[in-house]
Amino acid sequence: MVKIAVIGTGYWGRNHVRAFNELKAEGVIDELEICEVDEKRAREFSNIYHIPYCTNYGDLLKDDSLDGVSIATPTHTHFELAKSFMEAKKDVFVEKPMTTKSEDAEKLIHIAEDKKSLLMVGHIFRHHSAVKELKKRIERGDFGRIFYLTSTRFSFREPRKDMGVMFALAIHEVDIFCYLLNKEYPLEISAQLSKFLQKDIEEVAFLVLRFENDTLGYAFESWMTPVDGKRRDLTIIGSKMSAKVDYLKPQELQLFDASIISSADGASLKAEYEGSYTVPIPYKEPLKEEMRHFVECIKSREKPLSDMYAGKRAVEMIEIAFESARENKAMKIGK
Ligand SMILES: NC(=O)c1ccc[n+]([C@@H]2O[C@H](COP(=O)([O-])OP(=O)(O)OC[C@H]3O[C@@H](n4cnc5c(N)ncnc54)[C@H](O)[C@@H]3O)[C@@H](O)[C@H]2O)c1
Repeated sequence: MVKIAVIGTGYWGRNHVRAFNELKAEGVIDELEICEVDEKRAREFSNIYHIPYCTNYGDLLKDDSLDGVSIATPTHTHFELAKSFMEAKKDVFVEKPMTTKSEDAEKLIHIAEDKKSLLMVGHIFRHHSAVKELKKRIERGDFGRIFYLTSTRFSFREPRKDMGVMFALAIHEVDIFCYLLNKEYPLEISAQLSKFLQKDIEEVAFLVLRFENDTLGYAFESWMTPVDGKRRDLTIIGSKMSAKVDYLKPQELQLFDASIISSADGASLKAEYEGSYTVPIPYKEPLKEEMRHFVECIKSREKPLSDMYAGKRAVEMIEIAFESARENKAMKIGK
């Protein structure tokens, strides 16, 4: 028997409830409950999915039948909630950003290690089928030397009021760049950001991450772009091949058979382009795969793909990016 509770059913948490409800129908979990401080909202979801609700998470801390919780509340509440549930010996999935400060992420890691709780962080794109396919091909050496990665996340929406694009969006990029390159951190981060509409909430950010072997990662985040519609993509440019992931299409990976070849003596360069093709991938919803993985880890006690250590490093990298923007210089890491 596995019982899960979703804490927070706002913009994103309602998707957690839907995904877990589907996993319940598949028999992956047995019971589902929600906890939401807004009782009207809690009742609404309880009626839609025919599941129990509570409005005070303290009730769940006392529930011996509860195995794990999925926390999708505002980021400033993650620390207290994750801490309380792990102290009550529950397994925890917490949305990204893991915490608002890396010191708090470190404290949660200590609690998880002490209580032997599972602590998984919502770095959803690690569970994206096209990213998984890309990672497999990178590890196989298909791309040769990786020159650079780029990622753009554009939308046109009212900016969030609780955090800017750095913690809301760029945190995905710093995590995925490191994940794909199999690195814990880049060597250096530089960032520029702008706030136009709200004090302390940046709506636009540019980040550059420099890794070993001169590999670069570039991320461009904006909530102010009416030009492209919602756009979320990743490109990887390698010496043997290049690829593009459209995050909105987890069922395909585009590959480009292209390379720039230098002659043996290095005197001449030749661009060779053999064409592009799309690798079809069976459709799987990233969020549902992420939740399925959380439940599998609860059962197997294996380390999750998006574990607490990666969650903490992502928060640290965003802190460093903020420092870079403040100081107007590239920040070296670990030196
Ligand atoms: N992985 C992703 O791609 C992704 C996407 C969007 C948001 N998020 C993350 O999800 C989290 C929530 O974001 P959101 O946009 O859904 O916020 P939101 O404000 O829309 O929803 C938060 C909900 O939590 C409820 N809540 C607050 N405190 C609570 C408590 N103590 N107990 C129970 N319920 C409580 C609120 O009433 C609200 O319904 C954030 O950390 C955000 O970064 C992740």
